[in-house]
Amino acid sequence: MNPADLARAEIRALKPYASARALADSAGVLLNANENPWPPVNDAGLSLNRYPDPQPPALKRRLAEVYGIDESQLLITRGSDEGIDLLVRVFCRAGLDRVLICPPCFGMYGLSAKIQNAEVVAVPLLETDEDWQLDLSAIEQAPPCRLYFLCSPNNPTGNLIDAATVLALADQVAGHGLVMIDEAYIEFCDRPSLADRVAAQPNLVVLRTLSKAYALAGCRIGAVIADPSVIDLLGRIIAPYPLPTPSVAAALGALEPAALDRQRDQLARLAELKTTLLAQLHEHPAIRKVWPGRANFVLVRVDDAARLVADASSAGIRLRDQSAQPGLAGCVRLTIGSDNEMQSLTEFLRNWPS
Ligand SMILES: Cc1ncc(COP(=O)(O)O)c(C=O)c1O
Repeated sequence: MNPADLARAEIRALKPYASARALADSAGVLLNANENPWPPVNDAGLSLNRYPDPQPPALKRRLAEVYGIDESQLLITRGSDEGIDLLVRVFCRAGLDRVLICPPCFGMYGLSAKIQNAEVVAVPLLETDEDWQLDLSAIEQAPPCRLYFLCSPNNPTGNLIDAATVLALADQVAGHGLVMIDEAYIEFCDRPSLADRVAAQPNLVVLRTLSKAYALAGCRIGAVIADPSVIDLLGRIIAPYPLPTPSVAAALGALEPAALDRQRDQLARLAELKTTLLAQLHEHPAIRKVWPGRANFVLVRVDDAARLVADASSAGIRLRDQSAQPGLAGCVRLTIGSDNEMQSLTEFLRNWPS
């Protein structure tokens, strides 16, 4: 089945808004978009008086190259948050269709579904001695869903989901649903992306982002990698000019070979800092359990998560309480920061609880 057939009928029938920049490129005398002809002060050569290209060709080309996919399989979005929202709005009929999530997981899957009034079916991850796993038999028994949201490495547990499991699930639900695998943290581990499997598995959708390993959270650049028919539908409902010119320029910079070399060094340093932190956490008398995970954060369990977060906050260190998530009572997520930031964390933990 073509995955586009699973989309809402009104989106399939929609004639999208055609912005001035979508109808004609930005060459020549531009009198078609009611722009101010003069750049603002401090324009830095960006021509910020002009609307940006809706999907800037240079960035599209470069991201497709970096992700090893065809440009027709790519939609650049305002962070992967926007990709999640677009998927839910294109594929879920309010009050009728369901999405499946596997908590503990990133909160935006369920929230975007609720905003669209799509029922959220939660099939919690199974906690094993070492790690977390999908509950495949419970997923199989769940009512059919339009979207199956998976994440690898998963936030906040850090576990991977193996490629064979993701692809088998996509195969299994192909008649009624799409499997979305969120790879926001994939660069932090040594596993290959599933981006190049989309061509053979058209109901598979991969989410990528420049917010994490590429150090561009402030620019809001994400990517949906999907069958071209799905990309076409998402592109119909995205805002007319989603990608601000300075963000596009910064993204192109972050994808230059020299920047990628620097990124490799940073990832290696973060891995070292994580190893050092893990050693301290494993020896810490008040830390009951540590999940190292495969991303740039670790998850720990303590007797009183709120107290750890509050005490850290008093020391000027912000941690994320995860104890409200199913299965994560007493759990706190710690991001791996810079050398200095980890030094502060180490000192705080050495004296905690005081
Ligand atoms: C798993 C996961 N997916 C998506 C996002 C959203 O990232 P972006 O900045 O690309 O919107 C996050 C942010 O923390 C995340 O943890």
